[in-house]
Amino acid sequence: MNTKPHYIQFSKIGSSELGYISIAEAEQNVPFPIKRVYWTYYTPQDVVRGGHAHKALEQVIFAVSGTITFNTEDKDGNRETFVLDHPSKGLYIPKLIWRDIHFTHSAVLLCLASEHYTEDDYFRDFNDFKNYMND
Ligand code: TYD
Repeated sequence: MNTKPHYIQFSKIGSSELGYISIAEAEQNVPFPIKRVYWTYYTPQDVVRGGHAHKALEQVIFAVSGTITFNTEDKDGNRETFVLDHPSKGLYIPKLIWRDIHFTHSAVLLCLASEHYTEDDYFRDFNDFKNYMND
């Protein structure tokens, strides 16, 4: 069971002459069945997105363009910073991780998600997240 956020390095096929391809495959290098894909773009540099955690959702996230920085915190108060600065670098985020997200100019975030969207899966209040009794 994955309980900590961590990088997943995806292979790069290609060359500097021809360009590159990276491949994500459900239940192979992505550790769950993918039910949803979304992407965000045109986020101004001074905007902080995120500000939430999920009850069940697992995600693998890429910066397909630009650089995206995640500040994460688990329910025990363990904080980490992850910098997605290459299109082949993924970030796995398990359930129950609070995150703030910062974008460079023209960064594009691509998310592979383990569940369909439901607002019921979100903690949007940090104290609700910290007080939640898991299991
Ligand atoms: P949110 O997850 O809060 O975005 P971020 O983490 O990038 O700040 O989602 C922003 C809005 O989009 C919010 O109103 C919910 C809506 N939304 C959907 O309707 N479906 C989805 O799959 C996602 C990810 C968001």
